[in-house]
Amino acid sequence: MLSVYIRFLLITCLAFIAGYISLSHWGAIQAIISAIAVLTIPLIYSYINLARLRKSVMTDSVENMVLPSGYWEEVFFPLQKLVRNLKLQIRTVQQQHIRFIEAFQASPNGILMLDDQDHIEWCNAISERFFGLNFKRDAMQRVNFLIRRPEFIAYLNQRHFDEPLLLERMGTDSNLSLMLQAFPFGNKRHLLLVQDVTDLQKADAMRRDFVANVSHEMRTPITVLMGFLETMQSLDLDKTQQNQYFEMMMAQAHRMKSLVEDLLTLANLEVNTSPASLQPIQIPTLMALLKNDAQALSQGRHTFQFEALSSSSVMGEEREILSAFGNLVSNAIRYTPDEGSVTVKWGINPEGYGEFSVADTGPGIDSEHLPRLTERFYRVDRSRSRDTGGTGLGLAIVKHIANRHQAQLIIESIAGKGSTFTLRFPKERINPLEN
Ligand SMILES: Nc1ncnc2c1ncn2[C@@H]1O[C@H](COP(=O)(O)OP(=O)(O)O)[C@@H](O)[C@H]1O
Ligand SMILES: [Mg+2]
Repeated sequence: MLSVYIRFLLITCLAFIAGYISLSHWGAIQAIISAIAVLTIPLIYSYINLARLRKSVMTDSVENMVLPSGYWEEVFFPLQKLVRNLKLQIRTVQQQHIRFIEAFQASPNGILMLDDQDHIEWCNAISERFFGLNFKRDAMQRVNFLIRRPEFIAYLNQRHFDEPLLLERMGTDSNLSLMLQAFPFGNKRHLLLVQDVTDLQKADAMRRDFVANVSHEMRTPITVLMGFLETMQSLDLDKTQQNQYFEMMMAQAHRMKSLVEDLLTLANLEVNTSPASLQPIQIPTLMALLKNDAQALSQGRHTFQFEALSSSSVMGEEREILSAFGNLVSNAIRYTPDEGSVTVKWGINPEGYGEFSVADTGPGIDSEHLPRLTERFYRVDRSRSRDTGGTGLGLAIVKHIANRHQAQLIIESIAGKGSTFTLRFPKERINPLEN
């Protein structure tokens, strides 16, 4: 490969030779013209190549340029290679960048990147939803102009990010609880990580309510029991009075026992999240047991009708099914005034679902209460529930058992007329052999 100086020297020599030959044949002017012509040809070629290069640069296609020959090829070839490599590097970095963005977008948490002045450099879709932001619109805006909650502004101004900040009633429907924390990175930049803790907060509130309810439910019979004990200690009672007090104390102890038993049942059901096993349960046999218990509980105050319209069995956990059915029947008896009637039915409905229903002629339940009936300790008639030995946990237990059997608890009730509680089992849980 010849260096540029040697090429220059060669062209100059060629110009001289052309000039010299022209001088010896034609004259001085022709000699000058010949020499200039020899010098001009490479110059024109250079201009042509420069023009092509300019066009390629303008159209961003340097790497696709057809290579000229000679010295220009030596310039263009490395230039093309350089451009090609740079473009490849840019593409790799771009793809990495896209992957990072995709990963951040896939995060279930909100992510906001703030610069050293707390301007939003980037945020993901989740954080847009959490704070009602729009990245295209809000990019490079100060975050405290967009998230206007005073506690957030104070948190940001404090510059003390060791602890997270809980923001409640966030989101468009003000129903989100968000846990937010800033993490410093790079040059005075901050990463804001935001987690939706709504469910956790709800679970926490439910747990606190539950503990408060249990304590309250336990405290009442204990207080009553202690009152009786004190009375018996301080008063000189005769045998009949003593027996009366013992009976009343026994009733309170029973109440505590039922409560603890129901709590344990509920706890066991909650731990067991797997579907119930598939043992065949003979409903007519179960109904005979229920009838006995019902009559003992009612003491002849109600009339009963027990109808097993199908001999098909349910596939499930017998102990649980008996507990669920028993709860519904005992509710019907306890809430239905004397002389009322209770009808218990088992059958297969036209769609093939197994239905166990308990209908009573009791006071019924106002529709506003229906959605909450299966909540733990929710009672419509608090005093009647307590007086009849209710714990407020029966329907919560029924609901859990229904879930474990993929069954539905359907409550139909007309205030003043009566209620029907139905457990509807899916076809898969009905034993077809005995249909
Ligand atoms: N058959 C029914 N008729 C009227 N109200 C009922 C009936 N069954 C349940 N309820 C209402 O639903 C509430 C919740 O029932 P449950 O969870 O079994 O608790 P409880 O121990 O109080 O019976 C009861 O307190 C009662 O107010
Ligand atoms: Mg009950």
